[in-house]
Amino acid sequence: MFNQETIEIEDKILAYCAKNEVPLAELKWQPIPFNGEWGTSTSFFQTAANEAKSGKKVKVPLRAQEIAETIKDEIGTPTGISRVEAVKGYLNLYFVTADFAERVVAAILQEKSDFGRGKPKGERVMVEYAQPNTHHSFHIGHFRNAILGESLARLVEFSGFETIRAAYPGDIGLGVITVLWIYENFYKGQEPEGIHERGQWLLKLYVEATKLLTKKENETDEEQAQREAYDAERRELYRKWDEGDEYVRNLWLETREWSLVELKDILETLDIHMDAWFFESEVDQPSKAIVDELIALGIAEDERPEGGAVIVNIDEKLGLKKEKYRTNVLLRNDGTTLYLTKDLALAKVKFEDYGVDRSIYVVDVRQSLHLQQAFAILRLWGVPQAEKCYHLGYGFVSLPEGAMSARAGRLVLFKDVADEALRRVTEASKEKNPNLSEKERAEVAKSVGLGSLAYAMLSVDNSRDTVFDMDVALSFEGHTGPYIQNAHVRAASILKKFEGLKVEKLNDAPFNFEMTPHEIALIELLSRFPAKVEEAANEYRPMIMATYAYDLASAFHSFYHAVSVLKAETDAIRDARLRLVAASKQTLANALALLGITAPEVM
Ligand code: ARG
Repeated sequence: MFNQETIEIEDKILAYCAKNEVPLAELKWQPIPFNGEWGTSTSFFQTAANEAKSGKKVKVPLRAQEIAETIKDEIGTPTGISRVEAVKGYLNLYFVTADFAERVVAAILQEKSDFGRGKPKGERVMVEYAQPNTHHSFHIGHFRNAILGESLARLVEFSGFETIRAAYPGDIGLGVITVLWIYENFYKGQEPEGIHERGQWLLKLYVEATKLLTKKENETDEEQAQREAYDAERRELYRKWDEGDEYVRNLWLETREWSLVELKDILETLDIHMDAWFFESEVDQPSKAIVDELIALGIAEDERPEGGAVIVNIDEKLGLKKEKYRTNVLLRNDGTTLYLTKDLALAKVKFEDYGVDRSIYVVDVRQSLHLQQAFAILRLWGVPQAEKCYHLGYGFVSLPEGAMSARAGRLVLFKDVADEALRRVTEASKEKNPNLSEKERAEVAKSVGLGSLAYAMLSVDNSRDTVFDMDVALSFEGHTGPYIQNAHVRAASILKKFEGLKVEKLNDAPFNFEMTPHEIALIELLSRFPAKVEEAANEYRPMIMATYAYDLASAFHSFYHAVSVLKAETDAIRDARLRLVAASKQTLANALALLGITAPEVM
């Protein structure tokens, strides 16, 4: 990127090795952190090891050092490089400090929102997320899922993968039928006004229905008979749905739409735009054909004739001695499919209809075994992409007052949390910034309110459980979204004060003055951004980007407090610093965007 020199040197190394038949391993450059100067380093151990493997009698460490020294002599001292070192098998290149700093800043100001974007990788990735069950409402656990998936999608897309965003709501199952049952029997014809009220109402119905259908302690005979009668009605409703009964199907579609309208509104608020919508109900039929195929291939056993089900003993089929995937039912004796069966059909659609090379599932960690089973069956079935299925799990979200539970009425809906966050930010902004227009204030509230919620989720390692605390998330200090957004606002305010000249018009201002440690720290972090994007995308870990954004913001805040920009010693220093401020602002915005967070100009 800004290491043009490295590319030229790489060419020289390649040419040298080709000519002298040195089996060069891939050159991996690692930045050398600032210690009086910046540098980059690569090792020749793998190359020496390649020689040893090919039968040459060499001692790897000695030979690595020998290669490093020869190459050092070969390349001399290229322009932009202050010195070259060969140490312990490594080739270290040191940059002229002022040049390196200027190159980093210039690259950012030129590439703007593309700064850090990777080269096209020629592979298509599908990220599946935002797949709550319908006839239920969107709680903060679903929010963690949605924001994690969106951040991951943005990361893989930015790093160069062709990216498809997919949703897969569970729209059928006993839970859904339970809601239809109570609606049909007790609430028919009712419909609350307001898309969120309506969506949330379905959840209330679900909770109420579950109470009616669950065995109570000390149940009387009469109560028991009533409950059993309800349950029979529910079963009958499910049977009718399965049969395709028109009345039941319409009732189901109509109420399903209530949930989907609510879900889509929330996704819109979060700036999440799906490319594909899959539904469990749609893969139900196709999955039955897959069961037949798996039986014919001898992968699944049909035990229906003996009164059993269609099963796959994954462990046995994979030749595993220890139990790992267990035995799985694919089709019940009554011919109905299971969640697992449908996932096989869904995977096939992803691979065959969408030509997906890698398939990422952002799903609650509690479904880990389920997904591993699905991937294992795909492998047994011989689906080549089975190796490229990846489950990105995430932990439970609880509240300071305890775990969420729909049945206990302790469910925190995302909509309520978001409204409260926006309300609090609006209040704070009235105090801090009384002169904002209504429109501006609404924008700030949305940016900061949602940003704080998103960051609270992304800054915790996805696999860990988290306690969501609004007071902490909305704090302007510490490890929070607003703290990072505030760095962006401060950079914007410096640039705004610099009237008369536009930063774009400043010439490449050389950093050939004694830089403070604050400037050095900032430049170093800025230079690492493209590698961070790559790392976070390759490891499927948005938290890497969340941590980076925080580190960059914190370096910027320190710089802001300690270094004068507009009142710098000379105009040349001022210009260089202004460009550094502009580059920091841009990189903060790019990093935030990858977290699904907007970067406000004021707050
Ligand atoms: N709808 C499911 C749930 O809420 C999550 C779907 C996960 N994706 C999948 N392909 N199984 O639990």
